[in-house]
Amino acid sequence: PDVYLNGRFLPLDQAQVSVLDRGFLFADGVYEVIPVYGGRMLRWSEHWRRLEASLAGIRMAPPLSMDELENALQRLIDGEHDQYVYLQITRGYAGKRDHALPAQYQPTVFAMCSPIVSFDRAAGIKAVVLDDIRWKLCHIKSIALLGNILLRQEAVDQGAAEAILARDGLVTEAAAANVFALLDGVLVTPPKGPELLPGITRDLILEIAQENGIAAREGDISLDVLRSAEEIWVTSSTREIVPVIELDGKPVGNGQAGAAWRRMDALYQDFKA
Ligand code: PDD
Repeated sequence: PDVYLNGRFLPLDQAQVSVLDRGFLFADGVYEVIPVYGGRMLRWSEHWRRLEASLAGIRMAPPLSMDELENALQRLIDGEHDQYVYLQITRGYAGKRDHALPAQYQPTVFAMCSPIVSFDRAAGIKAVVLDDIRWKLCHIKSIALLGNILLRQEAVDQGAAEAILARDGLVTEAAAANVFALLDGVLVTPPKGPELLPGITRDLILEIAQENGIAAREGDISLDVLRSAEEIWVTSSTREIVPVIELDGKPVGNGQAGAAWRRMDALYQDFKA
């Protein structure tokens, strides 16, 4: 299958980038992950807006217009099966290595499609709480993911599938997902801010809750409160809504996917269909 690189559609093994690309040297770039169902990108305009915000956050202008990019990505999507678009824009090649931003540069725009592998979400996952060691601009979808990588691996080393992160005793998000907790029957997710990525799935869940009369709000979640939550979910474009059934080795609720998750998952599946 072809990939997209700087205006061209190429076989993967022919898509090449300079070792002087600032994405390679500095992780100087941003990305998006957009789920595709039935050949259609889910919430494309929301993903575009977040991409614009990420680029602005690293002082870059979008190298393509919204329509140009949509057309390119749409051409890349192959078939009707569940897949996701990975899109990465780096500051590209700019001559010699220098931390300060180059006056002129040629951005690198790369995109590929990968299948979304379905898994048994209802079985739930184990998670551990870890200190959020990342930087202070987590609202930018930066390709610099070393913090996220090390945190996820620490979770895996502890026999869990995901790390739920906390800064100053408050939940921010997970290593690669947002977090929801069911507290006294109300769905709560941390408010947007520089501590977390404004997840498209997160926003969609709040919207679905609103439309269906499900009590939900944005609010701080302390670790104490998290540990007494009736349900905990992690949410992302690729994994959708996943119930956390065990936190730091202790069962969440009755240790099984909860009724609120079941309802929201059904509504989400309807929405994306
Ligand atoms: N990650 N927070 C972080 C740190 C993430 O990496 C992600 C998604 C999310 C959820 O955002 P969204 O609902 O827009 O997917 C939150 C993607 C899937 C990834 O890095 O592969």
